[in-house]
Amino acid sequence: MLKGKHIVVGVTGGIAAYKACELVSRLSKQQATVEVVMTEAATSFVNPETFQALSRNPVITSLFQSVKYWEIEHISLAQKTDAVIIAPATANIIGKIANGIADDFLSTMVMASTVPVVLAPAMNTQMYENPVLQRNLELLKSYGYHFVDPCEGLLACGDTGRGKMADPALLEEYLVSLLMPKQDLAGQRILITAGPTREEIDPVRYITNYSSGKMGYALAEMAQKRGALVTLVTGPCQIPVPEVNEVVSVLSTEEMLQAVMIRYEQQDAVIKAAAVADYRPADRAAQKIKKQDDSSMELTLVKNPDILWELGKAKNNQVLVGFAAETENLIENAASKMTRKNLDLIIANDLTQPGAGFNHDTNQVTLLYPDGHSQQIPFGEKKKIADSILDEISRLLDGKIV
Ligand code: PMT
Repeated sequence: MLKGKHIVVGVTGGIAAYKACELVSRLSKQQATVEVVMTEAATSFVNPETFQALSRNPVITSLFQSVKYWEIEHISLAQKTDAVIIAPATANIIGKIANGIADDFLSTMVMASTVPVVLAPAMNTQMYENPVLQRNLELLKSYGYHFVDPCEGLLACGDTGRGKMADPALLEEYLVSLLMPKQDLAGQRILITAGPTREEIDPVRYITNYSSGKMGYALAEMAQKRGALVTLVTGPCQIPVPEVNEVVSVLSTEEMLQAVMIRYEQQDAVIKAAAVADYRPADRAAQKIKKQDDSSMELTLVKNPDILWELGKAKNNQVLVGFAAETENLIENAASKMTRKNLDLIIANDLTQPGAGFNHDTNQVTLLYPDGHSQQIPFGEKKKIADSILDEISRLLDGKIV
């Protein structure tokens, strides 16, 4: 499962270091190239030769190499690896990484890494529940570090509680899911809309909204990673465009409608994450409207086409997914849109939730189905939420009558 993947296993000085032996063995059996980096404290728990035998690679500890050596080696190791997992991760290494301390090979290599870094904390319950440690965990999570949380159990110190390192089998599973994303959407053609639309008033003014495109772009990126042939129809956004099959840039709702409808027939699924303007100015002035002496100015707006409603009307075996951006009556409003627009799934977005909705890197949504059942997706990064939404769409596609 991990053939061709290069994984660095960092081992720090905790009694759970012995469990890292099983992890290294498992990863080697998955045909990953495993290199072990031990802290000095770890070498008093497990002999480096053990890891050398299990990984069939030299083990790196700061003990044996001069500073000159690891000043260079840590960069090259960081550059050639696909992921780093630190198991066990003591309070000490967590504190060092969270505070930018790089005073040994492992902490220096982590600082030089640009690949996913997974931490498997292991320590006494009181230490784990210490607010400083918890602050370090939250800080690292906000920077995108991955965690496989410790479980409850009998600890080396005789206490029972949270702090036991996660089982090596769980750590192996986490790495497989991280490095070998499932290809459950292989070959599926999915069109995703993202970002705002822009309704022009005159050559210098327009009406728009706060959508940044992050939610739609996350869906496009994760769907492509899972093997889908993704078409991204995007309004004007300022974030990097994900590498997908086709990107179509539009400005107005009418342009988005055209771009979506001419591609609809070929799609297996359509996800409408874009924030589409319901109205546009009745007239677009050819020249910049000059300021008048009057204290106010009237702007007549006319209704825009409802793209999702048009898609619902023309649906022919596609899986059709919409979003509902609400500030009140979330479930009722979302359910009514789902029915009116003939959707297979609607993602209800409560914009009043802190960290949810427009322009945040995070979101919190509830999935509603036509049969009345719903599923709350926990608050989290938009990419993680996109993955959960795609899990449901993958299930709907499996159930599709081909
Ligand atoms: O882009 P981000 O900054 O990451 O923000 C994400 C988001 C908040 C924009 C996104 O999560 C979201 O909620 N998108 C839907 C926004 C929206 O227009 O919701 P709505 O309730 O107004 O529209 C309901 C559905 O109909 C949406 O799928 C929308 O794409 C679609 N619609 C709406 C109006 C219209 N004229 N045509 C449409 O297709």
